[in-house]
Amino acid sequence: MEELRDKILNHLYKGEYVSGRELASLFKVSRTAIWKGVNSLRELGYVIDSLPKKGYLLKAPPDLLLPYEIRRGLKARLLGRRIEHYDQVSSTNDIAKELAEKGVPEGTVVIAETQTTGKGRLGREWFSPEGGVWLSVVLRPGVSPDEVPRVALLLGVAVARTLSAFGVDSKLKWPNDVLVGGKKVCGILTEMDAELERVNFVIAGIGINVNNKVEDFPEEFRKSATSLVTEQGKEVPRAALVRLLLEELEEAYGLFTRGNFQAVLGEWRSLSGTLGRKVKIITHGKTLTGVAVDVDEEGALLLTLKDGSPARVLSGDCIHLQ
Ligand code: BTN
Repeated sequence: MEELRDKILNHLYKGEYVSGRELASLFKVSRTAIWKGVNSLRELGYVIDSLPKKGYLLKAPPDLLLPYEIRRGLKARLLGRRIEHYDQVSSTNDIAKELAEKGVPEGTVVIAETQTTGKGRLGREWFSPEGGVWLSVVLRPGVSPDEVPRVALLLGVAVARTLSAFGVDSKLKWPNDVLVGGKKVCGILTEMDAELERVNFVIAGIGINVNNKVEDFPEEFRKSATSLVTEQGKEVPRAALVRLLLEELEEAYGLFTRGNFQAVLGEWRSLSGTLGRKVKIITHGKTLTGVAVDVDEEGALLLTLKDGSPARVLSGDCIHLQ
């Protein structure tokens, strides 16, 4: 059914009336099958007009992150070759992990309209209402576990590039928050399954506040978070945003897997809102205060502490102080 539905949609997207008879003979199926296909598209939320002698006309697609909508014109070849879409899941990272364990190919994307228990970094909850983009990608980089923190940085670069194409300037906060006007618009959670020397898979979880309004956020996030609709005052076509995000991710990930992480790092540095700032880092129960001077090739943050001594932090929570 999904295949027939996609074929019908391809036709409907031409923007002209097409009759059930024409579609049936084109796809070598019965007119009833076409009628059922059109109705199931309507159930998904597609607004399809039908006129007795003219046939069907697509009036509007639904504002959902449907695989068909994301794939329309998608240039990425690895990322998004399989897309699993859900109305609601616990956490797309958890579903992606289950699929990865079952052996789904690299580049599989799990995307949901809402998450009931979205996961943030450091065991926090991630508020995931309708209107956002909550997705996870299964990656299988042939690298050792200590190279994985780099993936988080490249994800941030890909998100910032995507937002910029949609007219939003953003900055990256180490390790991988994306900020607009100092407020968090996107969070990234990478989780890995590895043995001592070998990574089995990495789940790259990305949450972007897109058309969900900040006034609907829980009180405690209203000051520190933002969304694209709040920043721009207009809604963003989410499927188009995800399409570009997958393309940008594929490019940055390709640089990393081909051994050119330096190029990604250079871009991370120029997009960084952390470097040059006074920061407080909480890592493994310790608090460090100093100036963030650089990020090294492993994705670690290099600091100059108050007493002038250097410090290197591979993971933790970062607070911008000035
Ligand atoms: C953070 O900044 O704390 C990271 C937030 C990551 C949220 C995304 S939403 C999609 C994916 N699924 C999850 O449960 N979490 C990540």
